[in-house]
Amino acid sequence: MARTTSEWLKRPKLPPTHYVDPIIYSSEEIFEEEKEKIFKKVWHLACHESELPNPYDYRTYRHPGGTPLVIVRGEDGKVRTFYNICPHRGNLIVYEPSGSSKYLTCIFHQWAFNGHGDCVDIPREKDGYQDRLCKADVALKEVRTEVAYGGFVWVNLDDNCEPLSSYIGEALDYMLPELTAEPMETFWYYQATLNTNYKLIHDTNSEFYHDYLHIYNRITGMLDPKSGYFQRKYTAYPNGHATVGSMNVNYGAYAGSGHSTDLGWPHLPPKGWKLVDLFPAITLNLRTSVLRIDSYIPLAPNKVLLEFRALGLKRDTPEERQQRERDAATIWGPFGRNLHEDLLASSGQGIAMARDSQPMYVLQAREENATIHDEIGMRHYIAEWGRRMGRSPALPMLKDEAAARVA
Ligand code: FES
Ligand SMILES: [Fe+2]
Repeated sequence: MARTTSEWLKRPKLPPTHYVDPIIYSSEEIFEEEKEKIFKKVWHLACHESELPNPYDYRTYRHPGGTPLVIVRGEDGKVRTFYNICPHRGNLIVYEPSGSSKYLTCIFHQWAFNGHGDCVDIPREKDGYQDRLCKADVALKEVRTEVAYGGFVWVNLDDNCEPLSSYIGEALDYMLPELTAEPMETFWYYQATLNTNYKLIHDTNSEFYHDYLHIYNRITGMLDPKSGYFQRKYTAYPNGHATVGSMNVNYGAYAGSGHSTDLGWPHLPPKGWKLVDLFPAITLNLRTSVLRIDSYIPLAPNKVLLEFRALGLKRDTPEERQQRERDAATIWGPFGRNLHEDLLASSGQGIAMARDSQPMYVLQAREENATIHDEIGMRHYIAEWGRRMGRSPALPMLKDEAAARVA
């Protein structure tokens, strides 16, 4: 029998670690707090070094904490990151997503900066500032940057943050041989903007029970006892990260998929598929011949910009690159079907759980010995969220001590 209103609003008879109050997906107050306590404190994957391969190349990045950044390769080859904000009157310095220039020159009054962030020119400097201010006083604000784990550019707004290696811990060890085997190259970058909360889209990468959404995954994995699909294990790591064990994808079972079976990836078992979820909004997804990186930039409680990258090997022949692109496109890329199925379901959650329309509880309660349909990935993620926010995901409007007792 269907439920009455009071039954619908009742808390589930489950431990509070196994369900979430949906207000965490729609509250402005919580969203603003997330920026301060999470996004401005953790390491984010901003781009790949192949997107700025030469000295003087630059790449802009909208930081999830809200600050516009510009990543620059200096004449010394080093990659540095700065606020993309002019120290004169706060204008955006670089407007284009990427390019190459010896100096970054602000269009407003033509102040110019080099790849070290030094101000190198102020028009009519002495006339206006005499000895009261000089170029050395108005360098760009530098942001902590590391290039690591296969040439990705990681940034952190917190000057006093822990090193990237201690933030990641051992979470990327599992994929490290594949990430570092050979230089990689981004061959596609694409975006989507969804009216949903960023945590909901990250959830879809943190649980595979939703393979019921994907006919392709059912046919090439779930329904093939030899694929090892149900043996895939979740492993949780400190700081909210998790990995999913590999499997043998039966590409041939899906007629017309067009996915190659012989072009693989160094160190990855043939037809393998490895996945690493990094807190709070990054997924590295190595599917046989293509590495797809998903990273999310929250714009509002119910709006998120999704960034997708597809990478191959830098030394690919034209034929190999063409095959990788075809593999990326067939199912999991912008022209495939899986990505759109994920986006459709996450958007549906965003619509249903929008502010003032969402009274219910979201379950994260499946337990299957940490295997593929266990929701341990989501629970582990949301527990880290609760720890950093000082709120219980099941009772988020109670803070700190009360939340800790519930959690
Ligand atoms: S605001 Fe950039 S030069 Fe004036
Ligand atoms: Fe999916």
